[in-house]
Amino acid sequence: MKTPLFEYPSFRYEIQDWEFKKKALLGKMREEKLKRTSFQKFETDRQQDGKSYINYFSELLRPELIKFCKEAQVTCSMTDAWFVRYQRGDNQLIHNHRGWGFSGIIYLEYDPKVHTPTYFVAPWQDPRTDTTNVVCPADVKEGDMIIFPSYTLHYVNLNETRKRRTVLSFDLLPQTPEHRRNK
Ligand SMILES: [Fe+2]
Repeated sequence: MKTPLFEYPSFRYEIQDWEFKKKALLGKMREEKLKRTSFQKFETDRQQDGKSYINYFSELLRPELIKFCKEAQVTCSMTDAWFVRYQRGDNQLIHNHRGWGFSGIIYLEYDPKVHTPTYFVAPWQDPRTDTTNVVCPADVKEGDMIIFPSYTLHYVNLNETRKRRTVLSFDLLPQTPEHRRNK
């Protein structure tokens, strides 16, 4: 009998009222300066200080974040959010965000005919083959939100088309019982 010792806590939601929220999110993105640095093959505002939209996003995504908090049995606050835009020839190397907490991705401008989703690397080797498992969520479309442990290694393949691929990424930091006690 199969009795998994651990489960991998990952989540997926469709954003409600997507057309309205897509316009709101893209509107905010237009106000930001997305930059390309010498060490990044994509455009982002991640390194920018004083982003004013984090509370706004938290409110806009409230229905889905509430569902997530219930399912994950956690209380979280959004500590950072940033846009990432991939033009033709762009990609993102393998990385993670921190050692605990959760991170999320919302597919904002995404054409499933030409784009590929985020690839996630299993944190342990397959014991049958001693190989590394890589998975990506199936049938991703605009308005999908994926949430995963922030320590999960992930990457984005080359955008081979002229159509840009844009996501909103964010970090959610849980309140531990200790944090709650100290409040
Ligand atoms: Fe990431």
